[in-house]
Amino acid sequence: MLDIKNNVNLKPFNTFGIEASCTFFAEINSVEDFLALLKTDTYKNNLKLIVGGGSNILFTTNFNGLVIKNNLKGITLVSESNDDVIVRAAAGENWHGFVLWCIAKGFYGLENLSLIPGCVGASPMQNIGAYGVEIKDVFNDLEAIDKSTGSKKIFTKAECEFGYRESVFKTKYKDQFLISSVSFKLSKQPSVNTTYGAINSELEAMKVTNPTVKDVSNAVIAIRQSKLPNPAEMGNAGSFFKNPEVSAEKFNSLKTSFEALVAYPLPNGNYKLAAGWLIEQCGLKGFEKDGAAVHSKQALVLINKGNCTGKAVFELSGYVLQKVFDKFGVTLEREVNII
Ligand code: FAD
Ligand code: EPU
Repeated sequence: MLDIKNNVNLKPFNTFGIEASCTFFAEINSVEDFLALLKTDTYKNNLKLIVGGGSNILFTTNFNGLVIKNNLKGITLVSESNDDVIVRAAAGENWHGFVLWCIAKGFYGLENLSLIPGCVGASPMQNIGAYGVEIKDVFNDLEAIDKSTGSKKIFTKAECEFGYRESVFKTKYKDQFLISSVSFKLSKQPSVNTTYGAINSELEAMKVTNPTVKDVSNAVIAIRQSKLPNPAEMGNAGSFFKNPEVSAEKFNSLKTSFEALVAYPLPNGNYKLAAGWLIEQCGLKGFEKDGAAVHSKQALVLINKGNCTGKAVFELSGYVLQKVFDKFGVTLEREVNII
């Protein structure tokens, strides 16, 4: 039954733990719920915001509109061959729960993305990535519903135009679709991806010499728990900024001045810089203002020390941006969706 509530506190619905409210709030448990909602005057006459786990959102103000909490559930095996499977997960499935389900079934390819907070439906938004894998590597297609007409559309991988923390859903189709389910092509042949240096060091520390897919998942979980704050204990939304891409020329000039610069060469000849390193070099690790702070174990993560406002986090992010620009001449871009 569709229930539209008034004036709801959004603190439980964002991992930053920011106090903010919305004028209207509805939870959808099925596509039919969404289609029924779409016909209401509340829907037609207001701004809309879809939330999954609220782990990549910063509320800097109350939301004067309708928040739609996506609770669509279900995982189905679409097809299976000797080598691989296609698995479809509804958008409201918890991401990490889905990854563990795939590993337990012997469907491989998502294990490096273990423990990323949030829901399946948000995973294509920024092509979530970690430890050498992005969802685009195993993405098959997604089903979406046009928010203005209610019609269904399938997006192929090419149509999603995935990039680093990018997709069409953040650019040309921003706010136009509700992603209702996502399907992945996963391998039935176990093979591990340990290209990301930290995974090998963690496996060594775990005394694992011949890692299984489950070992890789456990290593990723251990690395993440050692440096990323648990949102249940300390409000945050993961990396606040993207790692910036610079030209080879800019990289060379920075490298001359800053020998220890952390950077990765890209196939296009440019370099990706470790934003966490840049922020740390500005002396900002642990820096706090108005209850918002730069995390002391990972400078790319901004945290809510207790009861700070979303505005305080946003202002801190502006301060960090300015400091990094002043020292390195590099402009950071925010990864978190600012409301
Ligand atoms: P939300 O925050 O609820 O929403 C994010 C955006 O997507 C919003 O704009 C929202 O409107 C939109 N949206 C959500 N669901 C839908 C839908 N069904 N249809 C249409 N639009 C939708 N990200 C990484 O890529 N890699 C990491 O390693 C990583 N580590 C993290 C670690 C921590 C501790 C935290 C807190 C976050 C981390 N993140 C990481 C960021 C975040 O977990 C991901 O971006 C995740 O996919 C967000 O999912 P969500 O359901 O919480 O999205
Ligand atoms: N570093 C520092 N100081 C810091 C933080 C990092 O010097 O305070 C250095 C590290 O020593 C390392 C390098 O920066 O040499 C990279 O650090 P890390 O491996 O922690 O990764 P990251 O670049 O900070 C990115 C993603 C994470 C993802 C990890 C693992 C972005 C914006 N962030 O972080 O994604 O989990 O790699 O793949 O690309 C997220 O998007 O929310 C997120 C957490």
